[in-house]
Amino acid sequence: MSSSPVINFSFLLCFLLIPGTLFFPTITSSIDTITPGEPLLDNGTTLISAGENFELGFFGSKNKRYVGIWYHKIPVQTIVWVANRQRPITSGFGNLSITTNGTLFIADGNSTIILSPPSSPPLTNSVAQLLDNGNFVLRESSSQINNEPRSSFAWQSFDFPTDTLIPGMKLGWNLKSRFNRNLTEWTSSSDPAPSDNVVAIDFHNHELFLQSGTTKVWRSGPWNGLQFSGIPEMKTGDWFTNTIFVANEDEVFFSYTPDASSIYTRLVVNQSVTQRLVWIEQSNIWNVFWSVPKDQCDNMAKCGPNGVCNPNNVAICDCLPGFRPSSPTSWSLGDWTDGCQRKTALDCRNRTDGFVPVRQTKLPDTSNTVVDTGMSLEQCAALCLKNCSCTAYAAANISGGGDGIGCIRWATSNLTDIRAYTDGGQDLYLRLAAADLSSESNDYFLYQKKKTYIIVIVVVLLASILLASAAWYVWKRKKRSTKAFHEEEDEGKDLDLPIFDLATIIDATNNFSTDNKLGQGGFGPVYRGILGQEKEIAVKRLSKTSAQGIDELKNEVRLIAKLQHRNLVRLLGCCIQGEESMLIYEYMPNRSLDAILFDKARPALLDWQTRYNIIVGIARGLLYLHEDSRFRIIHRDLKASNILLDKDMNPKISDFGMARIFGGDQTEANTRRVVGTYGYMSPEYVMDGVFSMKSDVFSFGVLVLEIISGKRNREVYDSTGKLSLLGYAWSLFKEGKHLELVDELIGYPFPIVEVIKCIKIGLLCVQELPKDRPTMSSILLMLGGEGDNLLEPREPGFIAIRGSIETESTKHEVTLTIFEGR
Ligand SMILES: *[C@@H]1O[C@H](CO)[C@@H](O)[C@H](O)[C@H]1NC(C)=O
Ligand SMILES: *[C@@H]1O[C@H](CO)[C@@H](O)[C@H](O)[C@H]1NC(C)=O
Ligand SMILES: *[C@@H]1O[C@H](CO)[C@@H](O)[C@H](O)[C@H]1NC(C)=O
Ligand SMILES: *[C@@H]1O[C@H](CO)[C@@H](O)[C@H](O)[C@H]1NC(C)=O
Ligand SMILES: *[C@@H]1O[C@H](CO)[C@@H](O)[C@H](O)[C@H]1NC(C)=O
Ligand SMILES: *[C@@H]1O[C@H](CO)[C@@H](O)[C@H](O)[C@H]1NC(C)=O
Ligand SMILES: *[C@@H]1O[C@H](CO)[C@@H](O)[C@H](O)[C@H]1NC(C)=O
Ligand SMILES: *[C@@H]1O[C@H](CO)[C@@H](O)[C@H](O)[C@H]1NC(C)=O
Ligand SMILES: *[C@@H]1O[C@H](CO)[C@@H](O)[C@H](O)[C@H]1NC(C)=O
Ligand SMILES: *[C@@H]1O[C@H](CO)[C@@H](O)[C@H](O)[C@H]1NC(C)=O
Repeated sequence: MSSSPVINFSFLLCFLLIPGTLFFPTITSSIDTITPGEPLLDNGTTLISAGENFELGFFGSKNKRYVGIWYHKIPVQTIVWVANRQRPITSGFGNLSITTNGTLFIADGNSTIILSPPSSPPLTNSVAQLLDNGNFVLRESSSQINNEPRSSFAWQSFDFPTDTLIPGMKLGWNLKSRFNRNLTEWTSSSDPAPSDNVVAIDFHNHELFLQSGTTKVWRSGPWNGLQFSGIPEMKTGDWFTNTIFVANEDEVFFSYTPDASSIYTRLVVNQSVTQRLVWIEQSNIWNVFWSVPKDQCDNMAKCGPNGVCNPNNVAICDCLPGFRPSSPTSWSLGDWTDGCQRKTALDCRNRTDGFVPVRQTKLPDTSNTVVDTGMSLEQCAALCLKNCSCTAYAAANISGGGDGIGCIRWATSNLTDIRAYTDGGQDLYLRLAAADLSSESNDYFLYQKKKTYIIVIVVVLLASILLASAAWYVWKRKKRSTKAFHEEEDEGKDLDLPIFDLATIIDATNNFSTDNKLGQGGFGPVYRGILGQEKEIAVKRLSKTSAQGIDELKNEVRLIAKLQHRNLVRLLGCCIQGEESMLIYEYMPNRSLDAILFDKARPALLDWQTRYNIIVGIARGLLYLHEDSRFRIIHRDLKASNILLDKDMNPKISDFGMARIFGGDQTEANTRRVVGTYGYMSPEYVMDGVFSMKSDVFSFGVLVLEIISGKRNREVYDSTGKLSLLGYAWSLFKEGKHLELVDELIGYPFPIVEVIKCIKIGLLCVQELPKDRPTMSSILLMLGGEGDNLLEPREPGFIAIRGSIETESTKHEVTLTIFEGR
C-alpha cells in the first residue's frame, strides 16, 4: 500500500543525483532474498543487497549462463563470485531455487546443479539472502541476520571463493573439517572455469603461495606474527593495516577488513603473468595497489639452491655466506640454476658447527621444516645444532619484539627461494662449518642495527637542539627588526603578455569542471583546457581566499614572461578579471614528475635513460635561472611536483610563485618568511632564512636522489624509522652499497657508472654547508664527465626525519610557511 510513494520517491531521487557519483538512495524496492517457490529466473531479474553494494544474477553468453555476484554500483560488470563456474546452464531457461529444507540449486529441466549439500539438522523454512558484504547465505528464515555469527549459516558463498577475495572472506583452512578455501584463476576473461593457477594457504608453514599446475611459482614466506617475510610492504605499506592472519587449532586463514574509504577492494588471481596476484581498490577506476611478482626475485628459486636473490644488485644472485657457486662459469654468465654449495662440509658429530645470521630475508622454501611454538630462539638454536639434518633456523613469531620466539627449523640440505630485502624481511640463522664461520662477517647483508640506532638518536637530538636555537635566534632578530628585507625592483609595468578573456577560459575549461582538474598547486587548482579546436592549455586558478596569492601571481608573471628556456614551462598569458586571476601555461601531457615517480602502479614508464635526461634537463633549467638568463633567479620551491613533463618526457621547471630575483652581484638574501616545501629546503634556509643559489642546489640534490630511488625524501627508509632518504642514501654510500638505493622499477641493465656518478652528485648537492655544494655550472660539467674525479661528499644536512614538523600530512605536498613575519 505504502510502497508506491516510496518507489516514486527513489525513482525521482535517481534522476536528481549527479551522474557518475556512486551514491544511491538507500530506500529501495529491490529484493535481496530467494524463498522456496519464488526462484530467481534468468530473465534479467537480480537480487540486490540491502545497501546496494552487491548484485546477484545470471550472466554470461547466450548458451553459457552462470549465476554470479558483482558490484551493483560499478558500471562495468566486475564479477567477484561464480556459483557454477564449471557447469554453465546452456539452455537460457535456468533458475536459482531453494527447497524449504535448505537445498540451493540451479536447474533448467535438463540439469540440476546443487550448491548446498543437505544441512544437518535440515532447515525447516529456509531463505537465501545476498548480504551487503557480498556474501550469499542460506539460513532459517526466522533467524535474525544482524547479530548472527557467520558459522551459523547453513551455507555461504564466502566458503567457496572463485578468483576473488573481498573483505570479510577467508582464504585458508578450517582445520577441524579439513576444509580449504583458495582462489583459482578464470580460464579466460569470458570463461570462469578454473585454470591451473591457484593461490592458497599452506597451513603447516602459515604461508601464502601461488601454484601453477603442480609447480609453486611464488610464495610469501611464513607469517611471523607481523607479516609474511616475503611481503615487506606489510611492514611499510599502510594499506596492509587491514589485513588479518589467524593461526590457531581451528583455523589458519588470511583475510582483510574493508578500508574505511571504500569497501570496493578485491584481491584477485589474474591472467597476467606479470601481475598474478593483484590487490585493487576502486576509486573511479580500479587501482592496483599491490601485486606480485614484483621483480625477477619473486620467481620461485630464481637463484637456485642456496642462492640469495637481491634485485638491487647488478648480478641479482649471490651465494649464502659460506657457500660458493656450484658451477662458477655458468654462474658468472648469469645462469643461476645450479645454485651454490658449501665451501666446507658440516661437521655435526664433532659439534663444531655454528650459525651465521642472514639479515632481512624472505625465509627459504618451507617444504621441509619443523615448526615449534613457544620456545626461545636460543632453545631453537640448540635443537637445530643437535640434529644433523637441521641446516637453518628462524623465529616463528616476532610480534613480541626482540629476536622473537618459536622455532622454524629447516631439514633440507639445499635452501631455496631466499631473497634479501633492504627493509622488512626476517633474519635467518644459517648453519655453517667452523671454518666458514670465522671467515663470514656476522652482518652479511645488512647494517649493524645498534650502531644505526645510536647515530639516529644523536642526530635527532642535535637536530632538535639546532632547530630550537634557530627558532630562538630568528625570534630575537625579528624583535630587533634591524633591517627589512628589500624587495627586488618592480618590473610589473611592462607585462607584454597576452591577456585572455575570462569567458574564453571558462569555455576552454568547461567552466572549471572537476573532470578537467589536473591537480592542486601551491596557490590554487590547475585545470586542463582546450583553446579553439585543439590547442591544449593548463590554467592555474588562484584561490579567491588566498590574499597572498595575488602578489605571488604577479611575481610569477613578471619573472616567467621574460624567461624562455626549453626546461622552463612556457607561460602563454594571464587572465585577471574581477575576482578571478589566472595564469595560462602550455599543457604538459605527462603531468608532474612526482605523479610518475612515486606511483608504483605505473612501473615501466621511467627507465634509467629517461631519469637521467630528466636530471640533466632540470640542471640545465636551473643553470639558466641562476646564471644564464637576464636575471639571477632563485626558485626557492624546487620539488618533484613542480617539475612538469612534456610529451617526450622532457622536464620543465614550473611554479615561480616564490622565486626571487637577485641583483647583479648579490649572492644571498635573508627573509623572515621562510616558504618552501619540507624535505626540499636546505638547513640554512629553514634555520636562518638565508637563501641563495646553493639552497636551490640543495633542493636539486634531493630531487636527484628521489629520481634515482623513486622514494620521497620525507618518508622513512630504514628499520629504525628515523632516517630520511638523505640519511638513508648517505648510510648506503658510506658502506659502499650505492646500488641498493636504486629504484627497483628502473629495469636492467642500467649503466652502473653513470648511476653511481649521479648518486654522488646528489650527495654533493645536499651537503650541510652551502659552500661545500657545487654550483649548477659545475654540476652540469660533472654530469657530462666520466664521474671518476668527483670530490667525496660530506655528510648531508637533515639526515634524520625531524619530529617537529612531521605533523604535516606525509601523503600530500605541503607548502610550509615557518616564522611568518608581521
Ligand atoms: C522475470 O520473471 C519474474 C517471475 O516470473 C517476473 O516477476 C519478472 O517481472 C520478470 N522480469 C522480467 C524483466 O521479465
Ligand atoms: C534439454 O536437452 C535437450 C537435448 O540436449 C534439448 O533439446 C532441450 O532443449 C533441453 N531442454 C532445456 C529446457 O534446456
Ligand atoms: C528436502 O526436501 C526434498 C523435497 O522437497 C526431499 O526430496 C529431500 O529428501 C529433503 N532433504 C532432506 C535432507 O530432508
Ligand atoms: C525453475 O526451473 C525448474 C527446472 O527447469 C522448473 O521445474 C521450475 O518450474 C522453474 N521455476 C519457475 C518459477 O520457472
Ligand atoms: C584448492 O581448494 C580445492 C578445494 O578445497 C582443493 O581441492 C585444492 O587441492 C586446493 N588447491 C590447492 C593448491 O591447495
Ligand atoms: C590482469 O591481466 C590483464 C592481462 O591479462 C591485464 O590487462 C589487467 O590489467 C590485469 N589486472 C587486472 C586487475 O585485471
Ligand atoms: C642440492 O643442489 C645441488 C645443486 O647445487 C644438487 O646437485 C643436489 O642434488 C641438491 N640436493 C638435494 C638434496 O636436492
Ligand atoms: C672430528 O674431529 C676429529 C679430530 O678432532 C677429526 O679427525 C675428524 O675428522 C672430525 N670429524 C669430522 C667429520 O670432521
Ligand atoms: C631432526 O631429527 C628427527 C629425527 O631424529 C627428524 O625427524 C627431523 O626431521 C630432524 N630435523 C629437524 C630440523 O628437526
Ligand atoms: C605471537 O606472539 C605474541 C606475543 O609475543 C602472541 O600474542 C601471539 O599469540 C603469537 N602468535 C602466534 C601465532 O603464536
